[in-house]
Amino acid sequence: MKHSARGGPEQYWLTAIKSKASYIIALALLGLVAWAVLFPRADHGPVEIAQELQPSKEARDSAQGTSRMEIAHWALTHEALVQQKEADKELGVELVFYGDSITESWRGTQFGQIIDRAANIPEVFAKHYGNLKAAVYAIAGDTAGNLLWRLHHGEGLSGLTPLVVCVLIGTNDLIYQPNLLDAEAVAANVSTGASAVVDAILEQAPKAQVLLLGLLPRGDRTVEAPPLRYLQPSKFTAAIQATNERMKAYATLHKRVDFVDCGHVFVEKHKDSGDSVLIRGLMPDVLHPSAEGMELLAQCLKPHLKRAGINASRRRLLLL
Ligand SMILES: *[C@@H]1O[C@H](CO)[C@@H](O)[C@H](O)[C@H]1NC(C)=O
Ligand SMILES: *[C@@H]1O[C@H](CO)[C@@H](O)[C@H](O)[C@H]1NC(C)=O
Repeated sequence: MKHSARGGPEQYWLTAIKSKASYIIALALLGLVAWAVLFPRADHGPVEIAQELQPSKEARDSAQGTSRMEIAHWALTHEALVQQKEADKELGVELVFYGDSITESWRGTQFGQIIDRAANIPEVFAKHYGNLKAAVYAIAGDTAGNLLWRLHHGEGLSGLTPLVVCVLIGTNDLIYQPNLLDAEAVAANVSTGASAVVDAILEQAPKAQVLLLGLLPRGDRTVEAPPLRYLQPSKFTAAIQATNERMKAYATLHKRVDFVDCGHVFVEKHKDSGDSVLIRGLMPDVLHPSAEGMELLAQCLKPHLKRAGINASRRRLLLL
């Protein structure tokens, strides 16, 4: 059937639509309102994202402490730290560092023995924290579970009233993962362990602020088959980043916890290739910062310590 150019069914529909336009618009608006009421937009603000990412309370509560008492030099180091903590109760402590070999380097030791790798690091410690009453309770090779155990076996904060507690733990946990390449599964495990440690600290030191340090970058290596690989990303990088995201989420939801990621100071772009690489001078063995690296770590922590109430100048003033 043919329509004439004007005055046919086409124009009838046009008029009909025009006359109904206001109804249609009103209906559309009503529909939008109904849609908004029925399907509220998921809110993806920082708090909501943090709630999705943070290790659940149930998972944190079920994290288990694990001792390494069967290793003689670990047991001895732990006993020494328990003794030291008892002495620190008398002295009073303002700043506490908990961690693994990276943190133990502040003392210049590994399992309590002076080690070349940590040469000059105690001097960096003295420079930054010498004016404070600062304690280091760290043992090489510890996982989050090992540290959790120590917190409940004589190395915890009962009897101490620190202003700030720094925690750097989890890089050793990476070694025990069934599949390092499953970054999200690794991150869930490691961040749960680290947050369980912080939960314990918050409970033991109800006034302290906690600085939860993000895992530092590390390189691939086989100790048996050098050379070390400074190139980033390494096989650890994705898992480290995912872990740090979750630890940051946990900190976002806990008033007395600040997440501090100092990892960037150890990485640079290679000037010829443009690749990201660990800076050899700062992390010679692709895992532990050198004295120069620890200096940069201390500088990175400084504003956060200050904000949390640690003030190197304060004690100087008291001593004057
Ligand atoms: C993380 O994984 C290790 C190794 O499988 C396991 O021993 C540990 O209990 C796990 N920790 C948490 C908090 O799930
Ligand atoms: C920290 O030091 C500054 C001076 O540098 C001083 O004004 C401030 O009150 C101190 N804060 C604390 C908590 O001692």
